[in-house]
Amino acid sequence: MTRPDQPPDRPPGQAREQTAPPGLEWRDGVIPVSRVFDDPYFSLAGGLDETRHVFLSGNGLPNRFRDGFRIAELGFGTGLNLLATVLAHSGPGHLHYTSFEAFPLPAPDIARALTAFPEVAQVAPSLLDQWAAAGSGRTAGTIPLRFANLTATVILGDARATLPMWDGMADAWFLDGFSPAKNPEMWPPDLMAQVARHTAPGGSFATYTAAGHVRRALAEAGFTVTRQPGFGRKRHMTTGTLLVAGHPVPPTP
Ligand SMILES: C[S@@+](CC[C@H](N)C(=O)[O-])C[C@H]1O[C@@H](n2cnc3c(N)ncnc32)[C@H](O)[C@@H]1O
Repeated sequence: MTRPDQPPDRPPGQAREQTAPPGLEWRDGVIPVSRVFDDPYFSLAGGLDETRHVFLSGNGLPNRFRDGFRIAELGFGTGLNLLATVLAHSGPGHLHYTSFEAFPLPAPDIARALTAFPEVAQVAPSLLDQWAAAGSGRTAGTIPLRFANLTATVILGDARATLPMWDGMADAWFLDGFSPAKNPEMWPPDLMAQVARHTAPGGSFATYTAAGHVRRALAEAGFTVTRQPGFGRKRHMTTGTLLVAGHPVPPTP
């Protein structure tokens, strides 16, 4: 299970039980695997290294960070991508991070998953305290999270419903649903169009998947789409920049 890219195993858009508990099993004791989606939350080859390769480098980060830079994410999961971003930005300037999550994990599960990454130990307790205080088990509303140089908001609910209602914009997107074959709800063309609609001029996306239908949906939504070397055993991943009036806008320095 290294996030295989296969054709969807059921029609995109088919409803998944929204109140289903995440239902985890644990690989090697620390890698959470969703029973509902039959997929791991991050690469079995190293979640933190994957985040840095796919989502940070894939978006030209941390080089593009500046005061007010906005990141958005589909799939908060364990918060590992958030914490890797916190660690990648020591300032100056303050970042904004918005993540969309339908099935928030209980704090003890997040804590267990993060023990695999000693590097995040300095910032994980802050996330866990704030997450627990916000109330595990909620499935609607928002969870605000604050770190020294970054403010985050986790928007709970199905991204297909919450993203169209979001009034924010992102300079960089982390597209991190479970694999398109297992979690087609996170990759349909209309959701990719919403990602584009919520991307600032010059904004970018990165994702670990190179599935053809996802790449086509992102291109149709208005992104340049580039295949890049993937992480671990994945040969390819995908990055892109929003096209404006038919021309790619270079990422802001
Ligand atoms: C691969 S995991 C994300 C890993 C995460 N970025 C991390 O750093 O741990 C995919 C996430 O997408 C969430 N998800 C699946 N379907 C969703 C939907 N329709 N709307 C919002 N979130 C969804 C899952 O609950 C899961 O947390």
